[in-house]
Amino acid sequence: MPKLIDKFGREINYLRLSITEHCNYRCFYCRDDEYTPNCKREDILSYEDIQRIVRLFAELGITKVRLTGGEPLIRRGIVKIASLISSVPGITDVPLSTNAHLLEKFAHKLHKNGVNRVNISIDSLIAKKFEEITRGGDINEVIKGIDAAIAAGMNPIKINVVAMRGVNDDEIESMIDFAIEKGIDIRFIETMPIGNAGIEALAQHMSEQDILAKITQHLEGRLTPLISKKTDGPASNFKIDGTKSTIGIISAVSNHFCDTCNRVRLTAKGDLILCLGQEDSISLKDAVHSDLSDEEIKQLIINAINKKPEKHVFNSVVDNISNRQMVEIGG
Ligand code: GTP
Ligand code: 5AD
Ligand code: SF4
Repeated sequence: MPKLIDKFGREINYLRLSITEHCNYRCFYCRDDEYTPNCKREDILSYEDIQRIVRLFAELGITKVRLTGGEPLIRRGIVKIASLISSVPGITDVPLSTNAHLLEKFAHKLHKNGVNRVNISIDSLIAKKFEEITRGGDINEVIKGIDAAIAAGMNPIKINVVAMRGVNDDEIESMIDFAIEKGIDIRFIETMPIGNAGIEALAQHMSEQDILAKITQHLEGRLTPLISKKTDGPASNFKIDGTKSTIGIISAVSNHFCDTCNRVRLTAKGDLILCLGQEDSISLKDAVHSDLSDEEIKQLIINAINKKPEKHVFNSVVDNISNRQMVEIGG
């Protein structure tokens, strides 16, 4: 299997595939309140497009394809898409990133169709606060979704908490206890300045150090650092001693993890984005709708990956990173 190596020597083995720009939640740090995606049915990649593109990436050495959105569970045909992707030779890991509002209905079917694991966003366990952060979300549905994922045998299950001062920093301890009780993993994420909503949320930013101090105090140091696998995402992880759970921190702002970056992103409209913090993209939708051969499209992908930037610029040009909304990119 050939490998996709970029010009900084990083092996790209992970594709984050957004299958819709729409979301049934409107988290305040992820999308502007007035934002509605300008994305019609005919703009997005079809099943056939997705299957061909994933096959070409797999032929180039991609092994992990994450389903994201927007909220991936609202795309009609999600189960079929999961099945198409997980059937592509060479794809060995098909995780889902979701808000879990609809997961109770889909967990079992998705697991049967190749989705082996799930990451779930959940920023508060208090119903009223959860509703405010998500502008309308229902924590009870999310917890039912988590339980359904556990019952379906998804493994690991990770909850992602965006840690925000004055919003949910008083819940870090209770969310850790919740994860331990359910026997699942938990990661805390620093807010990232992506889109206006993300830039505004920097006012509530908590650094990796602040988050870690709270975690260590709560767990009284019962933490063993874990070594990450080659296809892992950007979290630094610890085992919580004496439990089934791991805990991690994703600190894109305090900590540049770009030197180990292993991923690219494909938007629902088929634009290949090389880095979360940059504007560049190329249209793979145009490529698969043209008469280019498989080999020519693979060369296009290789050329694009050669342009992958060395790192993001979150620290230096905070107001000029990207006009994209996080909800469009898929996290
Ligand atoms: P695992 O495979 O489970 O380790 O997944 P992951 O952490 O890659 O995926 P997930 O969708 O759970 O992402 C968690 C958080 O990490 C989200 O807030 C993402 O935006 C952030 N994240 C993921 N990839 C990148 C990246 O390349 N750069 C930056 N800066 N943040 C990222
Ligand atoms: N900063 C950090 N994380 C964000 N996410 C969405 N917007 C932001 C932001 N501005 C997270 C979601 C989810 C993941 C896919 O992306 O909470 O966990
Ligand atoms: Fe990779 Fe860009 Fe994310 Fe850095 S910001 S880890 S280079 S995608």
